[in-house]
Amino acid sequence: MPTNRQQHLDNRPEGEAVAGNFKLVTAETPALEDHQVLVRHHYLSLDPYMRGRMNDSKSYAQPQPLGQVMQGGTVGEVVESRNPKYAVGDKVVGFGGWQEYSVVDGNVVGALRKVDTTHVPLSHYLGAVGMPGVTAWYGLVKIIAPKAGETVVVTAASGAVGSAFAALAKARGCRVVGIAGGADKCRYATEELGFDACIDYKQHPDVKSMSQALKEACPDGIDGYFENVGGYIFDAVLLRTNAFARVALCGMIAGYDGAPLPLANPALILINRLKIEGFIVSEHMEFWPEALKELGGLVASGKLRPRESVAEGIAAAPEAFLGLLKGRNFGKQLVKLV
Ligand SMILES: NC(=O)c1ccc[n+]([C@@H]2O[C@H](COP(=O)([O-])OP(=O)(O)OC[C@H]3O[C@@H](n4cnc5c(N)ncnc54)[C@H](OP(=O)(O)O)[C@@H]3O)[C@@H](O)[C@H]2O)c1
Repeated sequence: MPTNRQQHLDNRPEGEAVAGNFKLVTAETPALEDHQVLVRHHYLSLDPYMRGRMNDSKSYAQPQPLGQVMQGGTVGEVVESRNPKYAVGDKVVGFGGWQEYSVVDGNVVGALRKVDTTHVPLSHYLGAVGMPGVTAWYGLVKIIAPKAGETVVVTAASGAVGSAFAALAKARGCRVVGIAGGADKCRYATEELGFDACIDYKQHPDVKSMSQALKEACPDGIDGYFENVGGYIFDAVLLRTNAFARVALCGMIAGYDGAPLPLANPALILINRLKIEGFIVSEHMEFWPEALKELGGLVASGKLRPRESVAEGIAAAPEAFLGLLKGRNFGKQLVKLV
């Protein structure tokens, strides 16, 4: 059986996460038992939620245990099988973690999913046609539920979730406005992702300036907001919401190191009769097939052309992950292993 390099969580961050929180470990892959398959990972997914699990605090999910492989989504190829449902060469999506190989019981429901790479590249099953894409779909379709002609806004607009959000919202006839960090990301959002406008928050570092930029980009006000960031951007958006606007609260990455993100004016929720709903995509598995079908169609038809930031090799995973939390990624952050 092959040698397997892994990234473990070695110790918990105090404040900002650092490379020293992780440890590169070499292990053996055990011999397969009945029903098991050996998957060689081609790509690991790096996702902002992993930062929250590095802490040992109360959350919607259990913390990442110390001294064990960092958990996370993977795509790869079956290289050995003792399960009749999986053949050598099958391409699969799973939750194999930050390591080069995983041994998976193929009979556990949801542990592995075979995917077709004819029209969708394997890596996209971790991004646009995977968990981040479904996240965008759920927040847009089930919470914001826009009508054609309405204006919707999303933060972290050029990222894995934001880019899928744009394609899905354009397909529903919305005006779609993004907020992203830097001129390059904003140019990509409008020129390649189909955003009608994109605001560079680095040029608008306070509520007043951001609110003015939103007024110009959203002349008819905001009907739906997909929140990925939190902080002053959220305050500025609330100032521009129309009556009965809907807010899908997906992420608050500006506070993932533990800084509180107070809301400046919650009275706006009452004044504008807003609906604000937080959600966790893995709690809505019943919608995944419908969402993945639409997302796969958008990618296969070229209407969604997601960008990827690809780090090379398992040793590069910690730095790539820390970069994602600081916005150094451009699109879906992956680690390529094969
Ligand atoms: N609720 C759920 O079930 C669920 C599922 C998946 C993802 N999420 C959330 O969705 C959000 C996007 O995830 P993703 O995977 O698509 O990541 P991503 O957008 O590809 O990458 C994260 C981006 O966040 C932005 N960012 C980081 N710190 C920021 C700050 N202080 N202020 C403003 N922007 C900042 C950066 O973009 P800029 O350079 O543009 O700042 C960075 O590129 C995250 O909040 C994540 O936790 C939630």
